[in-house]
Amino acid sequence: MIPDSFIQDLKASCDIEDIVSGYVKLTRKGKNLVGLCPFHSEKTGSFFIYPQTQSFYCFGCGAGGDTISFLKRIENLDYAEAVRLLAQKAGVPVPEDSMDDSGARLKARTLEINRETARFYHQCLVSDVGKDAYRYLIERGRTPKIIRRFGLGYAPDDWNSLVDHLKSKGFREEEMVASGICGRTKKGGLYDRFRGRVIFPIIDLRGNVVAFGGRAMGERGPKYLNSSDTPVFKKSKNLFALNFAKASKAPNLILAEGYMDVIAIHQAGFDNAVATLGTSLTEEQARIIAQYTDTIIIAYDSDNAGQAATKRAINIFSEVGVKVNVLTIPDAKDPDEYLKKFGPERFQMLLEGCTNALEFEIAKIRNKYDVSTADGKVSFLKDFARLLADIRNPLEREVYLTKTAEELGVAPAAITAQINSIQKGRKNAQAKKEKNDTSIYIGDIASVRKDMDRKRNLKYAVAEEHIIEILMKNPDYVPHFIKQCAPSEFVTEVNREIVTLLCDRIQAHRSVEPMALSADLSEEAMDRLSGILASETIQRADRTQLDEYIRILKEHGQQRSEQEIRDMDPDEYLRYVESLKARKS
Ligand code: GTP
Ligand code: MN
Repeated sequence: MIPDSFIQDLKASCDIEDIVSGYVKLTRKGKNLVGLCPFHSEKTGSFFIYPQTQSFYCFGCGAGGDTISFLKRIENLDYAEAVRLLAQKAGVPVPEDSMDDSGARLKARTLEINRETARFYHQCLVSDVGKDAYRYLIERGRTPKIIRRFGLGYAPDDWNSLVDHLKSKGFREEEMVASGICGRTKKGGLYDRFRGRVIFPIIDLRGNVVAFGGRAMGERGPKYLNSSDTPVFKKSKNLFALNFAKASKAPNLILAEGYMDVIAIHQAGFDNAVATLGTSLTEEQARIIAQYTDTIIIAYDSDNAGQAATKRAINIFSEVGVKVNVLTIPDAKDPDEYLKKFGPERFQMLLEGCTNALEFEIAKIRNKYDVSTADGKVSFLKDFARLLADIRNPLEREVYLTKTAEELGVAPAAITAQINSIQKGRKNAQAKKEKNDTSIYIGDIASVRKDMDRKRNLKYAVAEEHIIEILMKNPDYVPHFIKQCAPSEFVTEVNREIVTLLCDRIQAHRSVEPMALSADLSEEAMDRLSGILASETIQRADRTQLDEYIRILKEHGQQRSEQEIRDMDPDEYLRYVESLKARKS
């Protein structure tokens, strides 16, 4: 027995708040502290710590007691073990001769067997008998370093390598059977349960090896074999790699489906990944996770089974009040394969919520600059505009433009202007190149012609653009505008296209947001419109202004010389006649 006086002293020297806060996130509430109860599911905290009496009580499930009862419950220990654990946490030695409890002795022996087994399997992996398994791991992309870190092993492909080894270390048969690592035949002999498999040791939060998973290397037998429950292990209460993940500085945990996924994720530099142990997520595991983070990222396989499991897990996490982000893994079956194909940087982007390559590229340039500063913002926007200038689909461009502009608090028009100027620059470079090539590019000639059109009629073009700007801002002026001026009276071709669409849409009560227009406008018209919106030249966009610009526009027809009229092509001439008619009425 552990002397009572020792226990009293130990309790006095440990603060319940320190111990419990290692498991439960606590917030102060007056003299006391409160958190989410680790012993039942809840979303609002009813689990209280009373520092004055060094006790805890949950108003939800009625669990209560002192530091030792807390450890007993949460670590699934008996009294003596809880005392030992507390002593270990406090850094004081327990007076010896105290362990007469046979249950505790068996657990201790099982842990020793497990540790010896892990060592043996690892040794096999790195020696000759394991060379195929080692090569298998390397071929699957694992590094020697990660193999060591996770203590991976190899169980030789025969019936008694481990049994013989453990016997040589002085373990008794009953202990070996109790540890679950060896089975007993009907005739009474012992045999190794794991044969010809790559071994994944499962380590608990205190660093004890508590169980093993084993992957077949060939087609023989089930793909994975996991330890059954033992005195030191309950599948439903443990998570693979939580011993590493609990120390992670990441703000969340990643839950993957398989051992290999977890190891691949850690290897890629994310030390916050865990997995369940060959079973689907249990509520107990979700509660354990809730003790370490308030956000979990589920990174299950992308197949149907994985998606179904994701749905189940979402429900379980919502029960215990953990926020869930679901990682969709495009173009790969699981995180392991994704990392192999696309690398850690892309995986990071997935974690940050990017679902496609464009989002990924945007996030990448975003990480490059500090967008909280003006300089950083400008540099970011330059790169961003360059990126968007490559996007053909105007709708897609608009979506990301609007979203990013909003996030950065800049006018979308400013980015559009930037994109336009990049596109124009490229177009000019292209035109120049083609001129040198002496080949003819029809599309470009059209746009050059349209630019000429604007330059030749600059005064009217500017008036038209102001009209467009005013109408965009005040769609209710459209009837007033149409009464005085037909869209066909616009002098320049591009502006005419814009104002015609604008009037049509407004009369049909349809949206005139730039995004809604892009589908119906030619590329030049869209460029022009973006330019108009980006420059926002008019302060007072009222009706008097509108009338003034209409008046300027009307001057056009009147000033046409006979020569000009003779030079008109038939279309132009028709429009001219129409504009005269419109003015008379
Ligand atoms: P690799 O094929 O090696 O990449 O493994 P994986 O981790 O991607 O395996 P998979 O997606 O097939 O399964 C995910 C997890 O389910 C595994 O890590 C195991 O924990 C578990 N599992 C898979 N197959 C079996 C099986 O046959 N028996 C048991 N008990 N568990 C399995
Ligand atoms: Mn998988």
